[in-house]
Amino acid sequence: MLGNFSYCNPTKLYFGDQSLQYLNTELPKYGQNVVLVYGGGSIKKNGIYDEVIEILKAKGKNVAEIAGVMPNPTLAKLYEGIEIARAHKADLLLAVGGGSVCDYAKAVSVSVNCSDDPWEKYFVRFEEPDCETIPVGCVLTMVGTGSEMNAGSVITNTEKKMKVGHVFSDEKIMPRFSILNPRYTLTLPHYQMVAGIYDIFNHICEQYFSGTDDNTSDYIAEALMKSVVHSSRIANKDSQNYEARSNIMWTATWALNTLIAKGKSTDWMVHMLGQAVGAHTNATHGMTLAAVSLPYYRHILPYGLAKFKRFAINVWGVSADGKTDEAVAEEGLKAMESWMRELGLAMSISELGATEDMIEGIAGATLILKGGYKVLDHGEIVKVLKESL
Ligand code: NZQ
Ligand code: ZN
Repeated sequence: MLGNFSYCNPTKLYFGDQSLQYLNTELPKYGQNVVLVYGGGSIKKNGIYDEVIEILKAKGKNVAEIAGVMPNPTLAKLYEGIEIARAHKADLLLAVGGGSVCDYAKAVSVSVNCSDDPWEKYFVRFEEPDCETIPVGCVLTMVGTGSEMNAGSVITNTEKKMKVGHVFSDEKIMPRFSILNPRYTLTLPHYQMVAGIYDIFNHICEQYFSGTDDNTSDYIAEALMKSVVHSSRIANKDSQNYEARSNIMWTATWALNTLIAKGKSTDWMVHMLGQAVGAHTNATHGMTLAAVSLPYYRHILPYGLAKFKRFAINVWGVSADGKTDEAVAEEGLKAMESWMRELGLAMSISELGATEDMIEGIAGATLILKGGYKVLDHGEIVKVLKESL
Protein backbone atom coordinates (compact mmCIF):
# COMPACT_ATOMS: atom_id res chain seq x y z
CA MET A 1 0.00 0.00 0.00
CA LEU A 2 1.20 3.49 -0.77
CA GLY A 3 2.07 4.96 2.62
CA ASN A 4 0.94 8.34 3.92
CA PHE A 5 3.20 11.29 3.24
CA SER A 6 3.53 15.00 2.78
CA TYR A 7 5.46 16.37 -0.15
CA CYS A 8 7.01 19.75 -0.68
CA ASN A 9 10.07 20.65 -2.68
CA PRO A 10 10.70 24.38 -2.63
CA THR A 11 13.85 24.50 -4.80
CA LYS A 12 13.30 26.65 -7.86
CA LEU A 13 15.09 25.21 -10.88
CA TYR A 14 16.37 26.99 -13.95
CA PHE A 15 17.36 24.45 -16.61
CA GLY A 16 19.10 24.86 -19.95
CA ASP A 17 22.06 26.38 -21.73
CA GLN A 18 20.90 29.92 -20.99
CA SER A 19 19.98 29.30 -17.36
CA LEU A 20 22.75 31.34 -15.67
CA GLN A 21 20.95 34.55 -16.66
CA TYR A 22 18.37 33.69 -13.99
CA LEU A 23 20.95 34.39 -11.33
CA ASN A 24 20.03 37.99 -12.08
CA THR A 25 16.44 37.18 -11.13
CA GLU A 26 17.38 35.41 -7.92
CA LEU A 27 20.09 37.66 -6.47
CA PRO A 28 17.85 40.65 -5.64
CA LYS A 29 15.84 38.39 -3.29
CA TYR A 30 18.78 38.21 -0.86
CA GLY A 31 20.91 40.70 1.07
CA GLN A 32 24.16 42.22 -0.13
CA ASN A 33 26.62 39.77 1.40
CA VAL A 34 27.20 36.75 -0.79
CA VAL A 35 29.67 33.98 -0.03
CA LEU A 36 30.74 32.22 -3.21
CA VAL A 37 31.58 28.58 -2.46
CA TYR A 38 33.56 26.50 -4.96
CA GLY A 39 35.96 23.62 -5.36
CA GLY A 40 39.52 23.10 -6.47
CA GLY A 41 39.52 25.33 -9.50
CA SER A 42 37.63 23.68 -12.37
CA ILE A 43 35.29 26.69 -12.53
CA LYS A 44 38.25 28.99 -13.07
CA LYS A 45 39.53 26.85 -15.94
CA ASN A 46 36.23 26.55 -17.78
CA GLY A 47 35.14 30.16 -17.33
CA ILE A 48 32.10 29.61 -15.09
CA TYR A 49 33.76 31.55 -12.24
CA ASP A 50 34.15 34.65 -14.43
CA GLU A 51 30.54 34.45 -15.63
CA VAL A 52 29.21 34.20 -12.07
CA ILE A 53 31.48 36.96 -10.72
CA GLU A 54 30.37 39.28 -13.51
CA ILE A 55 26.73 38.88 -12.53
CA LEU A 56 27.48 39.27 -8.82
CA LYS A 57 29.40 42.49 -9.50
CA ALA A 58 26.72 43.84 -11.83
CA LYS A 59 24.22 43.35 -9.00
CA GLY A 60 26.53 45.22 -6.62
CA LYS A 61 27.00 42.29 -4.26
CA ASN A 62 29.65 42.26 -1.58
CA VAL A 63 31.38 38.95 -2.28
CA ALA A 64 33.59 36.77 -0.09
CA GLU A 65 34.84 33.35 -1.15
CA ILE A 66 35.23 29.88 0.28
CA ALA A 67 37.53 28.22 -2.25
CA GLY A 68 39.06 24.75 -2.36
CA VAL A 69 36.10 22.69 -1.19
CA MET A 70 37.43 19.22 -1.88
CA PRO A 71 35.54 16.18 -3.18
CA ASN A 72 34.19 14.45 -0.05
CA PRO A 73 34.35 17.71 1.96
CA THR A 74 35.96 17.43 5.36
CA LEU A 75 34.93 18.62 8.79
CA ALA A 76 38.12 20.69 9.05
CA LYS A 77 37.13 22.52 5.86
CA LEU A 78 33.62 23.01 7.26
CA TYR A 79 35.01 24.79 10.37
CA GLU A 80 37.00 27.09 8.06
CA GLY A 81 33.94 27.95 5.97
CA ILE A 82 31.77 28.64 9.00
CA GLU A 83 34.29 31.29 10.12
CA ILE A 84 34.34 32.94 6.68
CA ALA A 85 30.53 33.01 6.45
CA ARG A 86 30.27 34.44 9.99
CA ALA A 87 32.90 37.12 9.36
CA HIS A 88 31.15 38.13 6.13
CA LYS A 89 27.67 38.13 7.71
CA ALA A 90 26.51 36.02 4.78
CA ASP A 91 23.02 36.59 3.39
CA LEU A 92 23.41 33.96 0.68
CA LEU A 93 25.77 31.03 0.15
CA LEU A 94 26.20 30.57 -3.59
CA ALA A 95 27.58 27.09 -4.30
CA VAL A 96 29.15 26.76 -7.75
CA GLY A 97 30.27 23.19 -8.32
CA GLY A 98 29.22 19.60 -7.79
CA GLY A 99 27.60 17.73 -4.96
CA SER A 100 30.56 18.30 -2.66
CA VAL A 101 30.33 22.08 -2.96
CA CYS A 102 26.56 22.07 -2.69
CA ASP A 103 26.54 19.70 0.32
CA TYR A 104 29.22 21.76 1.98
CA ALA A 105 27.28 25.00 1.52
CA LYS A 106 24.29 23.38 3.26
CA ALA A 107 26.51 22.29 6.16
CA VAL A 108 27.83 25.85 6.51
CA SER A 109 24.26 27.15 6.27
CA VAL A 110 23.03 25.18 9.28
CA SER A 111 26.16 25.88 11.35
CA VAL A 112 26.87 29.60 11.04
CA ASN A 113 24.40 30.68 13.70
CA CYS A 114 24.70 27.58 15.81
CA SER A 115 26.87 27.37 18.92
CA ASP A 116 27.00 23.55 19.04
CA ASP A 117 29.71 21.61 17.28
CA PRO A 118 28.28 20.82 13.82
CA TRP A 119 29.76 17.31 13.67
CA GLU A 120 28.20 16.27 16.97
CA LYS A 121 24.90 18.03 16.33
CA TYR A 122 24.24 17.11 12.71
CA PHE A 123 26.36 14.07 11.89
CA VAL A 124 26.32 12.18 15.20
CA ARG A 125 23.02 13.17 16.85
CA PHE A 126 21.29 13.93 13.50
CA GLU A 127 19.47 16.93 14.96
CA GLU A 128 17.66 19.55 12.93
CA PRO A 129 18.95 23.14 13.08
CA ASP A 130 17.39 25.23 15.85
CA CYS A 131 19.17 28.37 14.72
CA GLU A 132 18.66 30.65 11.75
CA THR A 133 20.02 29.08 8.57
CA ILE A 134 21.56 30.93 5.62
CA PRO A 135 19.87 30.46 2.21
CA VAL A 136 21.83 28.38 -0.27
CA GLY A 137 21.73 28.78 -4.05
CA CYS A 138 23.46 26.41 -6.43
CA VAL A 139 25.03 26.57 -9.88
CA LEU A 140 25.62 22.93 -10.70
CA THR A 141 28.70 21.83 -12.65
CA MET A 142 28.81 18.09 -11.91
CA VAL A 143 25.86 15.75 -12.21
CA GLY A 144 24.99 12.85 -9.94
CA THR A 145 24.21 13.56 -6.31
CA GLY A 146 20.89 15.37 -6.61
CA SER A 147 22.20 17.79 -3.97
CA GLU A 148 20.84 20.62 -6.13
CA MET A 149 17.27 19.76 -5.12
CA ASN A 150 17.51 17.94 -1.81
CA ALA A 151 18.37 18.59 1.81
CA GLY A 152 21.25 16.13 2.01
CA SER A 153 24.75 16.98 3.18
CA VAL A 154 27.63 14.53 3.46
CA ILE A 155 30.71 15.42 5.50
CA THR A 156 33.86 13.38 6.09
CA ASN A 157 35.57 13.35 9.47
CA THR A 158 39.09 12.35 8.48
CA GLU A 159 40.27 11.92 12.09
CA LYS A 160 37.49 9.49 12.94
CA LYS A 161 37.55 7.92 9.43
CA MET A 162 33.82 8.47 9.12
CA LYS A 163 31.82 9.79 6.18
CA VAL A 164 28.31 10.63 7.27
CA GLY A 165 25.31 12.00 5.43
CA HIS A 166 22.44 13.86 7.03
CA VAL A 167 19.25 14.33 5.07
CA PHE A 168 17.64 17.24 6.88
CA SER A 169 13.88 17.09 7.13
CA ASP A 170 13.49 20.85 7.11
CA GLU A 171 12.80 21.92 3.52
CA LYS A 172 14.46 25.27 4.03
CA ILE A 173 17.83 23.47 3.95
CA MET A 174 17.19 22.61 0.30
CA PRO A 175 18.76 25.09 -2.11
CA ARG A 176 16.39 28.01 -2.64
CA PHE A 177 17.27 27.87 -6.33
CA SER A 178 19.47 25.78 -8.56
CA ILE A 179 20.80 26.65 -11.99
CA LEU A 180 21.28 23.59 -14.18
CA ASN A 181 23.18 24.25 -17.37
CA PRO A 182 24.10 20.94 -19.06
CA ARG A 183 26.87 22.74 -21.00
CA TYR A 184 28.69 23.32 -17.72
CA THR A 185 29.05 19.56 -17.33
CA LEU A 186 30.78 19.04 -20.69
CA THR A 187 34.24 19.72 -19.24
CA LEU A 188 33.95 16.92 -16.67
CA PRO A 189 36.61 14.23 -17.04
CA HIS A 190 35.19 10.90 -18.25
CA TYR A 191 35.91 9.32 -14.85
CA GLN A 192 33.73 11.90 -13.05
CA MET A 193 31.02 11.72 -15.70
CA VAL A 194 30.58 7.96 -15.37
CA ALA A 195 30.91 8.06 -11.57
CA GLY A 196 28.06 10.56 -11.54
CA ILE A 197 26.01 8.40 -13.90
CA TYR A 198 26.37 5.42 -11.60
CA ASP A 199 25.52 7.60 -8.59
CA ILE A 200 22.23 8.52 -10.31
CA PHE A 201 21.46 4.92 -11.17
CA ASN A 202 22.21 3.74 -7.67
CA HIS A 203 20.09 6.44 -6.04
CA ILE A 204 17.18 5.01 -7.99
CA CYS A 205 18.10 1.43 -7.04
CA GLU A 206 18.32 2.35 -3.36
CA GLN A 207 14.72 3.55 -3.44
CA TYR A 208 13.50 0.74 -5.72
CA PHE A 209 14.94 -2.34 -3.99
CA SER A 210 12.72 -2.18 -0.94
CA GLY A 211 9.14 -3.13 -0.24
CA THR A 212 6.78 -5.55 -1.92
CA ASP A 213 3.77 -3.30 -2.41
CA ASP A 214 2.45 -1.96 -5.72
CA ASN A 215 3.79 1.55 -5.73
CA THR A 216 3.71 4.35 -8.33
CA SER A 217 7.22 5.36 -7.30
CA ASP A 218 8.64 2.05 -8.58
CA TYR A 219 7.20 2.68 -12.05
CA ILE A 220 8.73 6.17 -12.10
CA ALA A 221 12.00 4.63 -10.90
CA GLU A 222 12.05 2.13 -13.78
CA ALA A 223 11.52 4.91 -16.32
CA LEU A 224 14.33 6.97 -14.79
CA MET A 225 16.66 3.96 -14.82
CA LYS A 226 15.93 3.29 -18.49
CA SER A 227 16.53 6.93 -19.35
CA VAL A 228 19.89 7.11 -17.58
CA VAL A 229 21.12 3.82 -19.06
CA HIS A 230 20.11 4.95 -22.57
CA SER A 231 21.71 8.40 -22.30
CA SER A 232 24.81 7.07 -20.56
CA ARG A 233 25.58 4.83 -23.53
CA ILE A 234 25.45 7.83 -25.85
CA ALA A 235 27.50 10.06 -23.53
CA ASN A 236 30.08 7.31 -22.97
CA LYS A 237 30.85 7.30 -26.70
CA ASP A 238 30.28 11.00 -27.32
CA SER A 239 30.77 13.00 -24.13
CA GLN A 240 29.89 16.28 -25.88
CA ASN A 241 26.40 15.10 -26.88
CA TYR A 242 24.21 17.82 -25.37
CA GLU A 243 20.98 15.86 -25.67
CA ALA A 244 22.34 12.92 -23.67
CA ARG A 245 24.12 15.11 -21.12
CA SER A 246 21.02 17.23 -20.54
CA ASN A 247 18.87 14.13 -20.04
CA ILE A 248 21.42 12.77 -17.58
CA MET A 249 21.38 16.06 -15.68
CA TRP A 250 17.60 16.09 -15.41
CA THR A 251 17.43 12.42 -14.42
CA ALA A 252 19.95 13.03 -11.64
CA THR A 253 17.76 15.70 -10.13
CA TRP A 254 14.67 13.49 -10.17
CA ALA A 255 16.55 10.48 -8.88
CA LEU A 256 17.13 12.13 -5.52
CA ASN A 257 14.81 15.05 -4.95
CA THR A 258 12.65 13.00 -2.55
CA LEU A 259 9.86 12.25 -5.06
CA ILE A 260 10.48 8.56 -5.74
CA ALA A 261 10.88 7.74 -2.05
CA LYS A 262 7.43 9.01 -1.21
CA GLY A 263 5.01 6.48 0.19
CA LYS A 264 7.49 3.61 0.24
CA SER A 265 10.38 2.13 2.18
CA THR A 266 13.94 2.50 0.88
CA ASP A 267 17.21 0.63 1.32
CA TRP A 268 20.40 2.82 1.08
CA MET A 269 22.82 0.06 2.12
CA VAL A 270 24.96 0.44 -1.02
CA HIS A 271 25.49 4.05 0.04
CA MET A 272 26.32 3.05 3.60
CA LEU A 273 28.93 0.58 2.33
CA GLY A 274 30.21 3.07 -0.25
CA GLN A 275 30.51 5.86 2.29
CA ALA A 276 32.51 3.63 4.63
CA VAL A 277 34.82 2.72 1.74
CA GLY A 278 35.08 6.42 0.92
CA ALA A 279 35.97 7.31 4.51
CA HIS A 280 38.91 4.88 4.34
CA THR A 281 40.11 5.61 0.79
CA ASN A 282 38.78 9.09 -0.14
CA ALA A 283 37.67 7.48 -3.43
CA THR A 284 35.15 9.12 -5.77
CA HIS A 285 31.63 8.62 -4.42
CA GLY A 286 30.02 7.01 -7.48
CA MET A 287 32.92 4.60 -7.88
CA THR A 288 32.63 3.38 -4.28
CA LEU A 289 28.98 2.55 -4.99
CA ALA A 290 29.80 0.74 -8.22
CA ALA A 291 32.47 -1.35 -6.51
CA VAL A 292 30.18 -2.77 -3.80
CA SER A 293 26.86 -2.95 -5.69
CA LEU A 294 26.95 -6.35 -7.36
CA PRO A 295 28.18 -8.33 -4.35
CA TYR A 296 25.55 -6.59 -2.23
CA TYR A 297 22.70 -7.13 -4.68
CA ARG A 298 23.65 -10.78 -5.23
CA HIS A 299 23.65 -11.21 -1.45
CA ILE A 300 20.15 -9.78 -0.94
CA LEU A 301 18.64 -11.15 -4.17
CA PRO A 302 17.05 -14.25 -2.56
CA TYR A 303 15.19 -12.01 -0.07
CA GLY A 304 13.86 -9.62 -2.73
CA LEU A 305 13.54 -12.05 -5.61
CA ALA A 306 10.27 -10.68 -7.03
CA LYS A 307 11.67 -7.14 -7.30
CA PHE A 308 14.94 -8.33 -8.84
CA LYS A 309 12.95 -10.31 -11.40
CA ARG A 310 10.85 -7.24 -12.17
CA PHE A 311 14.04 -5.15 -12.48
CA ALA A 312 15.45 -7.64 -15.01
CA ILE A 313 12.32 -7.60 -17.13
CA ASN A 314 11.27 -3.94 -16.93
CA VAL A 315 14.66 -2.22 -16.90
CA TRP A 316 16.89 -4.61 -18.86
CA GLY A 317 14.37 -6.25 -21.17
CA VAL A 318 15.15 -9.79 -20.00
CA SER A 319 12.70 -12.41 -21.24
CA ALA A 320 11.17 -14.59 -18.54
CA ASP A 321 10.06 -17.34 -20.94
CA GLY A 322 10.74 -20.81 -19.58
CA LYS A 323 13.16 -19.58 -16.93
CA THR A 324 13.12 -19.74 -13.13
CA ASP A 325 12.66 -16.48 -11.24
CA GLU A 326 16.24 -16.80 -9.98
CA ALA A 327 17.60 -17.15 -13.51
CA VAL A 328 15.66 -14.10 -14.72
CA ALA A 329 16.82 -12.02 -11.75
CA GLU A 330 20.46 -13.04 -12.25
CA GLU A 331 20.23 -12.19 -15.95
CA GLY A 332 19.12 -8.69 -14.95
CA LEU A 333 22.17 -8.27 -12.73
CA LYS A 334 24.40 -9.60 -15.52
CA ALA A 335 22.95 -7.00 -17.90
CA MET A 336 23.59 -4.32 -15.30
CA GLU A 337 27.15 -5.60 -14.83
CA SER A 338 27.91 -5.49 -18.54
CA TRP A 339 26.57 -1.89 -18.71
CA MET A 340 28.80 -0.96 -15.76
CA ARG A 341 31.85 -2.50 -17.45
CA GLU A 342 30.97 -0.73 -20.70
CA LEU A 343 31.10 2.62 -18.86
CA GLY A 344 34.42 1.73 -17.22
CA LEU A 345 33.24 1.91 -13.63
CA ALA A 346 35.29 0.62 -10.71
CA MET A 347 34.24 -3.00 -10.22
CA SER A 348 36.21 -3.66 -7.02
CA ILE A 349 37.17 -1.72 -3.92
CA SER A 350 40.81 -2.77 -4.34
CA GLU A 351 40.87 -0.61 -7.49
CA LEU A 352 39.98 2.27 -5.15
CA GLY A 353 42.80 1.58 -2.71
CA ALA A 354 41.05 -0.69 -0.21
CA THR A 355 43.01 -3.69 1.06
CA GLU A 356 42.06 -6.84 2.93
CA ASP A 357 43.39 -5.47 6.23
CA MET A 358 41.01 -2.49 5.95
CA ILE A 359 37.89 -4.66 5.75
CA GLU A 360 37.18 -4.80 9.50
CA GLY A 361 37.58 -1.03 9.80
CA ILE A 362 35.34 -0.37 6.79
CA ALA A 363 32.73 -2.83 8.10
CA GLY A 364 32.82 -1.13 11.51
CA ALA A 365 32.24 2.27 9.87
CA THR A 366 29.24 0.98 7.89
CA LEU A 367 25.96 2.19 9.29
CA ILE A 368 23.41 -0.63 9.16
CA LEU A 369 20.00 0.51 7.94
CA LYS A 370 16.84 -1.55 8.12
CA GLY A 371 14.83 -0.66 5.01
CA GLY A 372 16.15 -3.23 2.55
CA TYR A 373 15.20 -6.82 1.80
CA LYS A 374 17.65 -8.16 4.36
CA VAL A 375 19.02 -6.41 7.43
CA LEU A 376 22.70 -7.27 7.28
CA ASP A 377 24.67 -8.23 10.37
CA HIS A 378 28.35 -7.42 10.81
CA GLY A 379 29.41 -10.78 9.38
CA GLU A 380 27.37 -10.21 6.23
CA ILE A 381 28.86 -6.72 5.81
CA VAL A 382 32.34 -8.25 6.03
CA LYS A 383 31.35 -10.92 3.49
CA VAL A 384 29.99 -8.37 0.99
CA LEU A 385 33.10 -6.22 1.39
CA LYS A 386 35.41 -9.19 0.89
CA GLU A 387 33.50 -10.12 -2.25
CA SER A 388 33.95 -6.50 -3.40
CA LEU A 389 37.76 -6.66 -3.07
O1 NZQ B 1 36.87 20.81 -7.24
P1 NZQ B 1 36.83 21.10 -8.69
O2 NZQ B 1 38.09 21.65 -9.23
O3 NZQ B 1 35.64 21.92 -9.07
O4 NZQ B 1 36.71 19.67 -9.45
C1 NZQ B 1 35.61 18.81 -9.27
C2 NZQ B 1 35.95 17.58 -8.42
O5 NZQ B 1 37.31 17.27 -8.51
C3 NZQ B 1 35.27 18.21 -10.59
N1 NZQ B 1 34.32 19.00 -11.37
C4 NZQ B 1 33.10 19.41 -10.99
N2 NZQ B 1 32.50 20.04 -12.01
C5 NZQ B 1 33.38 20.04 -13.05
C6 NZQ B 1 34.54 19.39 -12.64
N3 NZQ B 1 35.61 19.22 -13.46
C7 NZQ B 1 35.52 19.71 -14.71
N4 NZQ B 1 34.42 20.34 -15.17
C8 NZQ B 1 33.32 20.51 -14.38
N5 NZQ B 1 32.22 21.10 -14.86
O6 NZQ B 1 34.65 16.97 -10.28
C9 NZQ B 1 35.20 16.46 -9.09
C10 NZQ B 1 34.10 15.86 -8.25
O7 NZQ B 1 33.23 16.85 -7.78
P2 NZQ B 1 32.25 16.53 -6.56
O8 NZQ B 1 31.44 17.73 -6.27
O9 NZQ B 1 33.05 15.93 -5.45
O10 NZQ B 1 31.36 15.34 -7.16
P3 NZQ B 1 29.89 14.91 -6.82
O11 NZQ B 1 28.92 15.83 -7.43
O12 NZQ B 1 29.82 13.49 -7.17
O13 NZQ B 1 29.76 15.05 -5.22
C11 NZQ B 1 30.23 14.05 -4.35
C12 NZQ B 1 29.85 14.34 -2.92
O14 NZQ B 1 28.43 14.38 -2.75
C13 NZQ B 1 28.03 13.44 -1.73
C14 NZQ B 1 29.11 12.39 -1.85
O15 NZQ B 1 29.17 11.54 -0.73
C15 NZQ B 1 30.35 13.21 -2.01
O16 NZQ B 1 30.80 13.71 -0.77
N6 NZQ B 1 26.64 13.02 -1.94
C16 NZQ B 1 25.65 13.89 -1.68
C17 NZQ B 1 24.32 13.52 -1.74
C18 NZQ B 1 23.21 14.43 -1.45
N7 NZQ B 1 23.43 15.68 -1.15
O17 NZQ B 1 22.05 14.02 -1.47
C19 NZQ B 1 23.91 12.15 -2.07
C20 NZQ B 1 24.98 11.37 -2.72
O18 NZQ B 1 24.66 9.99 -2.56
C21 NZQ B 1 26.35 11.62 -2.20
O19 NZQ B 1 26.58 10.89 -1.01
ZN1 ZN C 1 25.05 8.84 -4.10
